[in-house]
Order: sequence, then C-alpha cells, then structure tokens
Amino acid sequence: MSTEFVLGDDFARVLTETTQALVCVLDSGGRILLFNDACERTTGYGRDEVIGRDARESVIPPEESEAFGDVLAYIWRTRLSSPQVGHWVTKNGDRRLIAWSNRLMPAVDGNGSFLVTTGIDLTESAEESEGALSGDVEAKLAEVGRLAQEQRALRRVATLVASEATPERVFAAVSEETSRVLEVNASAVFRYEGDDTATVVGRHDREAVGIFSVGDRIFADDNTAIGRARDTGLPARIEDYFAIDTDVAKTMREAGYRSTVAAPIFVSGIPWGAIAIAAREALPDESEARLMGFCELVSLAVASAQAREDLQSSRARLVKTGDEQRRKLERNLHDGAQQRLVSLALTLRLARAKLESDPGALEPILAGAAQELDLALEELRELARGLHPAALTEQGLAPAVRALGERLPVDVRVDDLDERLPDYLEATAYYICSEALTNVAKHARAESARVTFHREPGVLRFEISDDGRGGADGRGSGILGLRDRAESAGGTLFVISPPGKGTVVTATLPLD
Ligand SMILES: Nc1ncnc2c1ncn2[C@@H]1O[C@H](COP(=O)(O)OP(=O)(O)OP(=O)(O)O)[C@@H](O)[C@H]1O
Ligand SMILES: [Mg+2]
Repeated sequence: MSTEFVLGDDFARVLTETTQALVCVLDSGGRILLFNDACERTTGYGRDEVIGRDARESVIPPEESEAFGDVLAYIWRTRLSSPQVGHWVTKNGDRRLIAWSNRLMPAVDGNGSFLVTTGIDLTESAEESEGALSGDVEAKLAEVGRLAQEQRALRRVATLVASEATPERVFAAVSEETSRVLEVNASAVFRYEGDDTATVVGRHDREAVGIFSVGDRIFADDNTAIGRARDTGLPARIEDYFAIDTDVAKTMREAGYRSTVAAPIFVSGIPWGAIAIAAREALPDESEARLMGFCELVSLAVASAQAREDLQSSRARLVKTGDEQRRKLERNLHDGAQQRLVSLALTLRLARAKLESDPGALEPILAGAAQELDLALEELRELARGLHPAALTEQGLAPAVRALGERLPVDVRVDDLDERLPDYLEATAYYICSEALTNVAKHARAESARVTFHREPGVLRFEISDDGRGGADGRGSGILGLRDRAESAGGTLFVISPPGKGTVVTATLPLD
C-alpha cells in the first residue's frame, strides 16, 4: 500500500536542510528568521549567531547595506519578486558573490509576510571559469545589480516628478539618488545662469561637510568641472584640487575633497545644468560614463519639473500682461474719449440753456460739440485699432504686417500669404510680427528686415529676420511675452541672435 506524498512542513524542512542552495528567510526589517545548512557552510556563521538579528549586522557587506534596505522596501511596497545579485561576507571576512531569487510568503496567521530568498553561490564558478570569462561573468552580474539599483533610484525620482513635487524637492532627490547610485558622499545639481556662473539647486552631503548651500551661486569657468561640462557638452573631471589654485578648488580642498566629476544635463538640447559628485580620493575611471548615463535619464525629470515651473510663471505673466493691458486700456479711455464725452455733455447742457435766452449763440457751441464728438469717435477708433487692427480684419495678415512695416524707419519686406487664417491665429501672428519688428527698429540698428510665411500641413511657420547687430537675449518682457503668446496658442517661438550676425525670430502656430 503506498502512502500519499504531501508537500507539507516536513518536506520544507528536509528540503531546506539538504539543498545546496542558500535558503534564508527575512522579515520586513531585514532580520534573519531562517538560515539553512548551506548558509552556515558558505558563511561560517552558525544559526544562533544570526537568527533574529538584522542581516546587515552579519552577512550584508556595509557598502551594500543601503541597497539591501531599498530592495526590502521595494518588495514590501510592490509585493513583487526582485531577483538580485550581491555579496555576502563570511565570518572570516571573505566575500561571496550570490545570485538571489525571492518571493514574499504570507504568514500562516495572516499577520504580515516573510521574504523567502534562495541563493546560488557564484563565487567558485566565476573563479573557476577561466581568465577573461570569469571577470566577464562577475562584471556582468555586478552590472545587472548596479542597473537594478539605478532603476530603483530613477523610479523614485520619476515618482516624485509624477506627484508634481516642487522642483526643489526633485533636485534634492536627484542629488541624493546620485550619491547613492555612484556611492559618493557628496553630490549637487547646478543650474547654469547663462553667464560664467551656476546656481546650486539641489545637494546631498552625507558627511554634512556643509559647503555650497542651495541658492549659492558659484563660478563655473573652464577651471571647474561644471564649466567644462557646459562648454563641451561632455562629462568633465577635476582629478586633483590640490594641483590647482582657484577659489572653488580652495573651498573643495578645505572641505577635504580631492576630485570631482560633473556631467551636463540637457533640456531641449541646451545645457541646462550639471550634476557633480565629489570624493576625498580620485574618483574611479567609470564615474564619467555612469554619471552621464544617470544624467541623461534625470534630465527628463528636470525638464518636466522645469516645464511645470515655466508653465506656472508663464501663466502668471499672461495674467499680469492681461491686467496691465486692461489698466492701459482703462487709462486711455479715461484720458481720451471719456474726457471728450464729458466735455461734450457740458457743451450740450450749455446749448440747451441758451436755447431760449440766446439762440444766436447756439451755432458756434453746436459746431464745437460736433467737433468734440468727431474727436471722441476718432479716439475710440484708434483704441479699437490697437486692440485688433482694422487692416488685419479687412485685408489679412500679410498686408497688415506690411502696413505696420511701412510706419517703421527700417526697410521691411513682407512675403505674400495668399490665404486667410482663423481670426485668433492672424491676431497672434500679427502681434508677434509687430513686437519683433518694433524690436528691430528699437535695438537692431538694421538696414532691412524680412518677414516670411511658410504654410506647412497643419502649421503656420513664420520668420522675422534682420541684418542688424544680433545679441538679443530673450530676457526682456517683449520676447518673453512673444513666447508666452506663441505657447498659449499651442505653438513655439525661438530667437536666434548671434552677436554681429542679425536676429531671426521663428514662430510656429498650429492651425487647428
Ligand atoms: N532684433 C534685435 N536685434 C538686436 N537686439 C535685440 C533685438 N530684439 C531684441 N533685442 C535685445 O533683446 C532685448 C530684449 O528684447 P525685448 O523685446 O524682450 O525687450 P525690450 O524691447 O527691451 O522691451 P519691451 O519689448 O518690453 O518694450 C532688448 O533689450 C535688446 O537688447
Ligand atoms: Mg521689445
């Protein structure tokens, strides 16, 4: 008679005792609850030395303990398995390379869960397989572990970005994750300021050395890693601060740092800023490549935080511009037409009083009133034209821009555009041309300017170019207002203005 075989507790125990694989059960705090024979053989620790204690006090090497905590937190949060490759330290200090699988197992009483992990010791196979291959295997596994860590770091940053955290928080998190992933004590995110300086927008300083605070502005010339990263678009390194004599080098030396690596963060193809890491010793050779890889990914986070901030300030500017325009309109109405109508009312009242007493005096009074009324009408017409030029409604975009150009002291050539476009689009394009051409007259010292229109599928693209002195910096309210106007219509606006080579303002506006 055969007995039925059951996968029960006894089986689990026998299997755990006899298997060559390492079997270790952990709780959510990283405490070891089960440590099988294979674990004892591999590490030299007896069960009684490790059970009930945090794995980070025995088998997890100190440099991997932070990553270990991350993995636990990740698994308990997501309840997903997370295969890992990492090291264990034996009782006599040797390191073993181990590939782990893991799975959460609910407690029998339904209270919480345990993490069952099984590991295969790869150390021997990595050492036994010969020469290049062994290095290769070990390096590949280390790479897998590193990538997994990097992915977790990026996921944390991405989660912050998605939760619309403030840019300050995102930059602080980026610094912290960079330090963690690149295993350095200090890192910072810098924003380039368009001159030879950069502002610290996020930092992480594990040892609390305390140099550079958020908001500090520092020199970023080509004696600095962040300056070189900006100028070359590539990672840059300062190998030894003790060998150079600049203010930044002195600060870094005094804080005990020897070397720095920085990599640029590009936003929309332009160097927006950099991430820099610093260490007391020479940073390893692969730091550049690793930081660059990390930077490319975090630049997305930065771009979206930045875009959100830009959007907020653009909204604020639009509201402010709207307010200002309303106030200006109110002032113009008040000082112009309103005054004339008030005086017209007075004149008419006077005329009425004279109607019986002195009818002969009526003629000049009424003539004056009629003139006043003409002026009031003329002023109202002027105002209305300022809001929406009559030429635009009557003749369309190109003729209206041409009429505008004729009033400027520069020779302006305007292409034809044989097509009427929706009202709001013609108006937006008209105001962009108007401000850009006014800028040409005000700033460019140009001989001529040209406006060209290109109808592309679904898009109107147009350019206002001049042959003047260039150097427009986009910091004035005019150019910012243009960009806001284009972007609020769903389009884009770029200003290219190399000094001495003229200026080209290119705008695109979607037609639907
Ligand atoms: N076509 C141009 N050629 C040369 N410099 C220009 C040109 N357009 C603008 N600039 C420069 O860029 C700056 C910013 O222009 P912007 O239109 O934003 O401001 P603004 O014209 O000075 O003031 P606002 O338009 O608010 O009255 C100008 O002050 C000027 O120095
Ligand atoms: Mg201007």
